[in-house]
Amino acid sequence: MNKLSIVGAGMVGEAAAQIIAREEFCRELMLIDVQGELAQGKALDVWQAAVESGSDTRVYGGSNAELLQDSDLVVITAGMPRKPGQSRQDVLSINLPILDSIMLDINRHAPAATVLVVSNPVDVLTYRAWCLSGLGRNRVFGQAGVLDTARMKCFIAEETGFSARDITALVLGGHGDSMVPLMRYCAVGSVPLSHFLSNQQIERIVERTRQGGGEILGLKKVGSACDAPGVAIAQMVDAIAKGRNRILPTVAILEGEYGRTGIAMGVPCVLAEDGVARVIELSLDAQEQAMFDRSADQVVRDIAEMNAL
Ligand code: LAC
Repeated sequence: MNKLSIVGAGMVGEAAAQIIAREEFCRELMLIDVQGELAQGKALDVWQAAVESGSDTRVYGGSNAELLQDSDLVVITAGMPRKPGQSRQDVLSINLPILDSIMLDINRHAPAATVLVVSNPVDVLTYRAWCLSGLGRNRVFGQAGVLDTARMKCFIAEETGFSARDITALVLGGHGDSMVPLMRYCAVGSVPLSHFLSNQQIERIVERTRQGGGEILGLKKVGSACDAPGVAIAQMVDAIAKGRNRILPTVAILEGEYGRTGIAMGVPCVLAEDGVARVIELSLDAQEQAMFDRSADQVVRDIAEMNAL
């Protein structure tokens, strides 16, 4: 990949930038923030850290929207993180105008860029970004499920005592309390999780995963999670930059899959050079479909709330 821009040089943007630069996922990495000097300072820091890993990615920063020019991929992390006790939806009224103005900048300066939305509420803002972009749904999508899945893997490792290396997990649905961990697709060393854990233990893991972001926020108090979100972004960027055809949970625009249209939700997608190459539609059992529908209904209500703003 030639150029990647991250809009929002806060904690999450910086955490992602560090990995992207170190791993040399692009030739040029641009950090853009309303606080231009902060973005410039972080860019220098990230660049100087990356060279020590042998990376030639050049990192720049600033506040001018023109810096977006020629981006192949734009990652949007800008926005107000929620405060302890707030839901992701509570930051909608603040983050919506921010997202809108960023999309205007992207349309003006980098209309050909693929867009990865991370700012919360991510399902709603991904949908908004896609509506404003005029691009196909393969080119505008969001990050949530890679992070939620990482959290679930941690809790599975803790509960089973097994290495996290061999754990696979899958989380669908909205990035919120109604997210849908698909335990049927969770395994340790290819052995289904139900072989090792009771329903009660699995339920505990599911609940902690749902509250995973809030748990960190409640403890840190002054900011939400940043390191694991940074890694999650980097994984999606890796899949795109290297055209890997990875199957990753992605906030994607649905066009009839899972019985839904006009919504962005977390579903497994194939991520490749041009973004979402394919949305994978799993056949859910009645209980999973009911959980998915509850989550989707919540996103529909959130989108209606956004449209009313
Ligand atoms: C979280 C926020 C970043 O889940 O959505 O930590």
